[in-house]
Parts: sequence; C-alpha cells; structure tokens
Amino acid sequence: MRRVGVIGAGVMGAGIAAQIANAGTPVLLLDLVPDAAAKAVAAMAKQEPAPLMSKAAARLIETGGTETDLPRLAECDWIIEAIVERPDAKQALYRRLLDAAPGAIISSNTSTIPLSTLTAGMPEDFSHHFLITHFFNPPRYMRLLEIVTGSADPARIAPILDFADRHLGKTVVQCNDTPGFIANRLGTYWLQLGIAEAIDAGLTVEEADAVVGRPMGIPKTGVFGLLDLVGLDLIPAVNASMTSALPTTDAFHAANRDLPLLGRLIAQGYTGRKGKGGFYRLNRAAGSRAKEAVDLATGEYRPEQKPDLPELGRDLKALLTAPTPAGRYAWRVLGQTIAYAIGLVPEAAASPADIDAAMRLGYNWQQGPFELADKLGPAWLAERLRADAMTVPAFLTLAGDRPFYRIEAGRLACLGLDGAYHPVPRPDGVLLLADIKQASKPLLKNASAALWDVGDGVACFEFTSKANALDEPIMALLGRTIELVGERFRALVIYNEGSNFSVGANLGQALFAANIAAWGEIDKLVAAGQQAYQALKYAPFPVVAAPSGMALGGGCEVMLHSDAIQAHAELYAGLVETGVGLIPGWGGCKEMLARWQAAKLPRGPMPAPAKVFELVSTAIVSKSAAEARENGILREADGITMNRDRLLADAKARALALADGYRPPAPHEFKLLPGASGALGMRLAAEAFQRRGLATAHDVTVATHLAYVLSGGDADPVDTVPETRILELERQAFMALLHTAPTLARIEHTLETGRPLRN
Ligand code: NAI
Repeated sequence: MRRVGVIGAGVMGAGIAAQIANAGTPVLLLDLVPDAAAKAVAAMAKQEPAPLMSKAAARLIETGGTETDLPRLAECDWIIEAIVERPDAKQALYRRLLDAAPGAIISSNTSTIPLSTLTAGMPEDFSHHFLITHFFNPPRYMRLLEIVTGSADPARIAPILDFADRHLGKTVVQCNDTPGFIANRLGTYWLQLGIAEAIDAGLTVEEADAVVGRPMGIPKTGVFGLLDLVGLDLIPAVNASMTSALPTTDAFHAANRDLPLLGRLIAQGYTGRKGKGGFYRLNRAAGSRAKEAVDLATGEYRPEQKPDLPELGRDLKALLTAPTPAGRYAWRVLGQTIAYAIGLVPEAAASPADIDAAMRLGYNWQQGPFELADKLGPAWLAERLRADAMTVPAFLTLAGDRPFYRIEAGRLACLGLDGAYHPVPRPDGVLLLADIKQASKPLLKNASAALWDVGDGVACFEFTSKANALDEPIMALLGRTIELVGERFRALVIYNEGSNFSVGANLGQALFAANIAAWGEIDKLVAAGQQAYQALKYAPFPVVAAPSGMALGGGCEVMLHSDAIQAHAELYAGLVETGVGLIPGWGGCKEMLARWQAAKLPRGPMPAPAKVFELVSTAIVSKSAAEARENGILREADGITMNRDRLLADAKARALALADGYRPPAPHEFKLLPGASGALGMRLAAEAFQRRGLATAHDVTVATHLAYVLSGGDADPVDTVPETRILELERQAFMALLHTAPTLARIEHTLETGRPLRN
C-alpha cells in the first residue's frame, strides 16, 4: 500500500487516518471544511485514548481540503470515505472521486447505509471497486472491521483486506448487506431491550448495569453506561434507521419502544459523557462532584446507589434462574439477545463464529452470543425460551443438545445450518493459544503457569495467575521449562492471551512476607527471580517474548531477558517499581543499562545510566510498542505485530529463525560505569525535583538507591563490572527499600486501590 486517502476528518476519519499512520503508511486526510483535517491532526496529541502510537506516525499524515486537493488522491491505492451519514452526499463525493482518482478502490465507513443504496444509480463499473469497510470507534483500539463486498472484484480488494488485517491489525468479518451489519444490528437490539426491560422490571440504572455487565462477560458499563459513552443522541437516529430498514417481522420492532425519558434527556442536553451527562452524571453544584443517576420512573437525578443484589455473586445460570426482578431482567435481556443472534445466521452472517467475533471485538464482550449459548447449554436455552413463550430460532432447534462449537480432529469446529460441524477458519499466519489449549494438554502446569507445545519444535510458556502476576510457582515452572525445552524443543516463546502480558510481581505476597518480617523468604524470591531470568537468557535455545497489553515491572524484566521481543503494537511496558518504593530487582536495571550502553548516545560513562535513571525513577510506561522502542525496551531487531491474533505465529517464526545454530550470549560485562560521582549526580537531580515540589523525600531515597545500582556501586569508571555485580546491587537495594515504612505503605496502598501513593 503506497498511500491511503481518507475523506472526512471527523471522529472516525481522523481516527482511521491515525491508525493507517500507526501502520507506517502515508495517508492523506481531506475534509470539506478546509482546515478541519489539519485541526483534527493537531488535536490528536491531546486526545485520550491516544489515536497515534508515536510522533513518527503523526508525520505520515498529510492534510487538505476536498475542494482543493482531490486530485492528490490519484496517488492513493485505497480511498476511505468517512463523511456525513447521507447517501446523497456520499454518492456526490464518489462521482467526483471517479474523475479525480480513476480506478482507485473506494470504501465507505457507513454504519447504517446498505451497499445497494450506495451503489444504486452509480456507473456500472463503480461497484467492482467499491466496498463497505466499517471501523469501530476508536479505530486504533477496536479490533473489528466489518466489510460488505457486494460485487467488488475479489482480486482487487484482496490487498486491501490483507492490509487491514496485517497492518491495521483488524479482524476482518464479512457481513451480508443487511441493516447495521452484524455488531450494531445485535448491539442495538440488546441495548433497546436493556433499557425497556429495566423500566418494566423497576430496576435502577445501577442495578441494570450490574446485571447485564460483568456477570455476562460484558464490560461493566452495561447498557446505560455504554449509552452514556457512545452518546444518547445517536440512539434515536440509529433506531429510526433500523425501524425503516428491517422487515416488519423482525424482533427489533417489538423491542424498540418509544422511550420518552430518552427524548427528554437529549432535549435537555444530557447526551452522555460528551454532554452534561446522561443516565449518570457528575453533579458539580455547590462545588461538589456528586455522582448521580437518573431515576427511570421519574426522570429526576438522585445520588448514585450501589446495587445490592445477592443474585450477582453466583454463576450466570443461577442469575438467569433467580426468581427476582434482577434475575428475570437478566434472563429477558440475555435470553432474547442470544435468540436474536442465533436467528441472524444466515441472514446477516454466514456463521456463528462471525457473529461471536463481531460482538467480542466490536462490543468488547468476553464471549459472543453462541459461546454464551454453549455455556448455558443450547438445549437448556431452547427449553427456557419455549417455557417463556419466546421465539426459539430454528438453528437452535437444529443444534438440539449439541454445542455450537466443539473440537473435531484436533481443531475448533462450528455447527453449520447443514447440521454438520465445519472448522472455524483461521487466516494463514493466525495461531491462537486458545485453540491449542482446547485441543491438547499442557506439557507442564502448576497453579500460576503452564507450558504448551505450539508445534514445529516450539514450546509456549503461559502465565495463568491472576492478572498474570509473577510469583514463586512461575519461577519454579520456568526452571522446569528450561530443562524440558532444552531436551525436547528447538525454541521457547513466552506468551499468553490475557488482556495483559503481566502486571509484575505479586506484591501481595511480598507485603505479607514483609509484615511478618520473613526477610529471608523475600530475599529468596528475589534471588529465585534473578536466577530464573538469567537461566532464560543463557538457555541453550532461543527465547522470544511476545507481550501484549501491560508488561510492567517483573513482566517487563522477562521481556528484557529474552533473545528477541515480538511485541503486539498495543504494548504498555515499563519498569514501574519506584511507584511502590522499590527498584527493579530481577535484572531490569542491568538489562536496561546494557541496552542504553549499546545505544547511540554521547560518549562517556554518564549518558546511559542517566537515561535509565530518567526512565526508571519516573516509572515511565510506554503507550505503544513504538514508544517502548523509543524507551529502549525493544531493540532495533525486535519486531512489532499489529494484529493481536498474529502475535503467537510471528513470535514462533522469530524463534525458529533464531534456532538454527543458536548460541546463547556471552555473559555481559559493563565498561565505563561512573561509580560514586555518577550516583551523586543523579541524586542531586532527584533532590532538585524535590525542591521544586515534584518529588517526595522517599522518592529521593528510592532514587538514591537506583542511582547507586546504575552507577555500578563503588566502581571506578575504568573498571569492568560483571553483570552479576549489578544483580547483587539490585538485590541489596531492593531489600533495603523493602525494610522502609514508606515503601510498605506504598505497596499496601497500591494493592488496596490500584493507584500509587505519593508519600
Ligand atoms: P463526524 O460528524 O464526526 O465527521 C464527519 C466529517 O466529514 C466532518 O469533519 C465533516 O466536515 C466532513 N464532511 C461532511 N460532508 C463532507 C463532504 N461532502 N466531503 C468531505 N467532508 C465532508 O462523523 P463521524 O462520526 O466521523 O462519522 C463518519 C462516518 O462514519 C459516517 O458514515 C458514520 O455513520 C460512520 N461511523 C461512525 C461511527 C461513530 O462512532 N461515530 C462508528 C462507525 C461508523
């Protein structure tokens, strides 16, 4: 892809342009309003969540206006239209594009207009190079891309779809040309039921969200919180378009009741988080910031009420069968939503797997509706729907007591309308540990980790502890892994499919041990971690770390000790130990120092330790893999994978490429560490921060320890310092800090609140 054009620099167009730039591809962003595109790009630096992964990406976006710059689109291989949602405006633009960029592939980001409407009346040839590419908001973070290809030439659009998958990181789901495609068709129905049934059941908005959120594996925003997030004013428009587009027999019409409350809120400017608030608001009256929610019966705001629903503590089925208003609400919303979803095959989607992927990736559900049906049991579900005189979709009857998914011949297969199971297709280069786990048994396993055979002589070490926190069992299993992989495999990949690679060491264990003064135990854990990571580094086979999401503290240190990193583009990595009053003790200081000593910095002993000091003392966490590279965590040779589903396969390929003739690295020796004078310089810098009110006294204490380690202790600048000496210094500093009361207070606070304590 040489260059992509995006037209319409609003919420979606600007976000899509940013993601194309994140992929390293030049993009031209145009808007009807001459300076709108330039303004949108300028605003990106302050936007949360950030649309851009790096400053370099920002430089790949050129901007302009559709009245002056349309001919520049001739250089683009793909033009994405993301303008106002009106067929006449879109078609008028397409006509101009046919002149300005003849033959270019054009796609629309429309969320509601059918492809047949967009191509109607256009020149015959147009539909051969036109498709719908429906991104979700925000385009960088939402992994779903729905496409409707109609009569587009498959050979011509194949490179676009491949680019969207490999470079934009999207899971491309083919949809039929039906209203709302897949995710919004089902999502709109679910939201509408969620509101109407809550009113009928007499639940509060807090109760409703507590029921249709977490217990169902749905984000805790539930329905009302989600409506506040997307904007209440979008709902009437989307519902109106669904009402006019869907056949009268569709179950949507029954769910879509007139909701006067919604209209009133919108009219008063309560359009959600972008407005004054929505179903929830922060009442800033009288200088306070009281959290309030709307009373669904009166429409008045009242203080937020924490739901008290004992039904929520149990499993999903228990919730759905509870003979209480919350239980009945849960069932009426979820039962009918799953039934509606099952009825969408084959009208909207060819297979259950497409619908599940759309809801997981477009609405962040942990499981799609068919997966939820399997969890409840299709036979149970059909029976319950029948008992409540709800529609039982024919496909559910066909399933009978069989699940929608099962393993056949070692592969995940999915029930089809022909009554047979068909393998769930995985694109070439997509390898999922979830699939491997369903079809095989672990090679090794304990309470916090497991080792899997991922084929071709590569083993995969998976953290399985809560939040993938690192603890003693993980270190123990790493030890056994190194033995086993050394005997029977060619390479090791460290990878998991949790939302975070690892949040770092299990601080709860450390705090518990410190509180009972079991210092020897803690010292042993620090030593065990150092040994395990050193053993990884010097193992007789290559080790590739493949992190995604957060890789903090000890989780970051695992990566630093591997031969190569293959990172997901969404990597939030950093050594954050100082936040809890500690310093990296599992070799993090040592590895970062080695990386920065090898970097292009001014000569002399100070620049590398000073750079590491700056990053570690302020607990910097990268906001992307590109930033992790800027911070020296990823080296030049390390790779970045845009598509989460391709990470394991890419890491495995990387490991195999290193396996032939692999030799472990020679033990590292540090030359030219600055010693005491360097430590003093860094301490003075920390004290200067303290004087400006930017650091506390304990920050200075922690920084002083860190500075001592990074300077090589009492090294003389002409000495050669073996890496084992830095490890020893790390351990001493770690233990000394753990003996201080402010550090323990920080750990306790972080464990309780999830936030740092500035003491
Ligand atoms: P927006 O209102 O934020 O931005 C639209 C932009 O297009 C504005 O900057 C406007 O000046 C420009 N524009 C309007 N007519 C134009 C024309 N004839 N030529 C050039 N520029 C023109 O809208 P938003 O939300 O970004 O939506 C754009 C498209 O994406 C719509 O089709 C919408 O249905 C779709 N969509 C929106 C989603 C969302 O969450 N906002 C999600 C997925 C799709």
